[in-house]
Amino acid sequence: MQPMTDTSPTSLFNLINKVALVTGGSRGIGEAIARAYAKAGASVVVASRKIDSVQSVADAINAEGGRALAIACHTGDRAQVRAMIERSVAAFGGLDIVVNNAATNPQFGSLLNATDEQWDKTFQVNVKGYFAVIQEAMPHLLKRGHGKVINMASVAGITPGQMMGIYSASKAAVIMMTQSLAQELASQNIQVNAIAPGVIETKFSTALWSNAHLTATVNRKAGRLGQPDDLAGVALFLASDASNYINGTVIVVDGGLEVGGSF
Ligand SMILES: NC(=O)c1ccc[n+]([C@@H]2O[C@H](COP(=O)([O-])OP(=O)(O)OC[C@H]3O[C@@H](n4cnc5c(N)ncnc54)[C@H](OP(=O)(O)O)[C@@H]3O)[C@@H](O)[C@H]2O)c1
Repeated sequence: MQPMTDTSPTSLFNLINKVALVTGGSRGIGEAIARAYAKAGASVVVASRKIDSVQSVADAINAEGGRALAIACHTGDRAQVRAMIERSVAAFGGLDIVVNNAATNPQFGSLLNATDEQWDKTFQVNVKGYFAVIQEAMPHLLKRGHGKVINMASVAGITPGQMMGIYSASKAAVIMMTQSLAQELASQNIQVNAIAPGVIETKFSTALWSNAHLTATVNRKAGRLGQPDDLAGVALFLASDASNYINGTVIVVDGGLEVGGSF
């Protein structure tokens, strides 16, 4: 890791001349991160399965003076992941920052009622998909001599989310994969970190925030529901030089919800 030479805020936190890939960038947390990276000066690849949704995010970034490319990619499909990385590098000349954010949660209920298909789908996207993106991107990060990998985990990966057993296990796996890769890649100046959001008001978590009892608990413990932009600052920090000596960590962004144990 390079020691810091200029510690002015503009130097610490800017992403000028950096290329960032954000999966699940068409809405919610991924969109907030992609927009924040573009504002910090990065060229941003915004990916998700549906090209129309991801294209409108890229169009908005470009219209605001940023530089963005939309790519359709199902991150549970290795061939599509490989093609996405190749296109990103061809378009912007390299890759510096990878944000694994696209995830799925097909099972909400008792873990004992879970099917093999639900286990397979969740792990294919949330764990093997994250790994595929990292593995395909790594030669390009290594070529740069530096790199940042940011994996979107969840507080459910630290303490189990109720009725979300498979999802929680997949997020715990994301945290362990983050730490394993951080250890492996530290000497090559690649930092691998995770973010663990609490309850953020997005399409993904509708089953949570549409539950009045749960929302009341969140309001009592964390003051309010989280919003996608609440993740922008920490994602920018972990992508920037400001975090060059932070590796293998999990930053919880939950407004204090889980202080003292699972909510
Ligand atoms: N919201 C929360 O409360 C919360 C809490 C903790 C952690 N998280 C984590 O935060 C991340 C983002 O969630 P979010 O709340 O922002 O969800 P969201 O608003 O529903 O967005 C999910 C994004 O992922 C994309 N996506 C889904 N499956 C995909 C796949 N197989 N391949 C590629 N893209 C895919 C979606 O676009 P397409 O449909 O076009 O593919 C969309 O862009 C996830 O990792 C989630 O586990 C969320």
